[in-house]
Amino acid sequence: MNLGEIGSSAREAINSATTREALEQIRLNYLGRKGELTEILRSLKELPVEERRVLGSEANVLRVELENMLADKTANFGEAGEMVADITAPGKKVSRGHLHPLSRVMADASKIFAGMNFSVVTGPEAETEYYNFDALNIPANHPAREMWDTFWLKSGKGDKQKMLLRTHTSPMQMRFMEKSTPPFQIVVPGRCFRYEATDMSHEVNFYQLEGLMVGKDVNLGNFKFIIEEFLKKFFVGQKIEFRFRPSYFPFVEPGVEVDIKLKGKWLEIMGAGMVHPRVFEYAHYNPKDWQGFAFGVGIDRLAMIKYGVPDIRLFYSGDLRFLKQF
Ligand code: PHE
Repeated sequence: MNLGEIGSSAREAINSATTREALEQIRLNYLGRKGELTEILRSLKELPVEERRVLGSEANVLRVELENMLADKTANFGEAGEMVADITAPGKKVSRGHLHPLSRVMADASKIFAGMNFSVVTGPEAETEYYNFDALNIPANHPAREMWDTFWLKSGKGDKQKMLLRTHTSPMQMRFMEKSTPPFQIVVPGRCFRYEATDMSHEVNFYQLEGLMVGKDVNLGNFKFIIEEFLKKFFVGQKIEFRFRPSYFPFVEPGVEVDIKLKGKWLEIMGAGMVHPRVFEYAHYNPKDWQGFAFGVGIDRLAMIKYGVPDIRLFYSGDLRFLKQF
């Protein structure tokens, strides 16, 4: 056999070997004291110098290759000869995680507003009564409080105020205004809580994205433009129909709601309006100098419409069959 033949028969033998013993036998056949390759290496000294050089280096390259192949394959078998790794088995697919659809929608929505020069800020989920209600022109005992079914927290010793789980992201309006000088525009993504019965479009916990823009002459037309831009970008490629309709919230005047049509039915996705002068007074802004709009959009509702999810409770079910579809 010449070198080429030795190489191909040795490789084939190694590849089809299925035990440690078989591999050891192959090693002896080719690389042992009387092995085929060893014979060639030994006979080199009888060759003329030129031939010896060429054949010698080719034979040594083959020797190293076969030694490596044997070592690699032998490592697949344990001491007892059992298979410890089957290099011919198909590879295992590594499964990578991904964002929860609500996190994804919240990030996408924030990004679209950031692209329109809004800053993204966040606030606490456990709020004071003042920020969640009073500063938003919703005094205690006022019937408007009934709009939000509230989880009150047990008050601790040093608490100066009643605490609750925020019923909306609107308390961040006041928190931000107290620390800022207009003009500005912000969005606040976050989790909210309501003490209410669940159904296909209500959950005790859900997500909102609050918006607030304050400036010298901000008007409802600006709001309409921004929201239309947002909806166009968020539902890009999807044909959606939406409408603005008058509504009431104690912290805006006038108030509006935005609905989106889903399967022939209008679904409310956001409350909004022009910031109420009383709210500006709480922030120590002169309502004669400043105007602004505020809105709160339901992240869960946006996700339901974008992905065709029929029931909000699916988002919180932890059901992997549902989550893996995203
Ligand atoms: N906070 C209101 C809600 O949760 C929505 C809203 C936000 C309305 C901002 C007007 C202005 O329903």
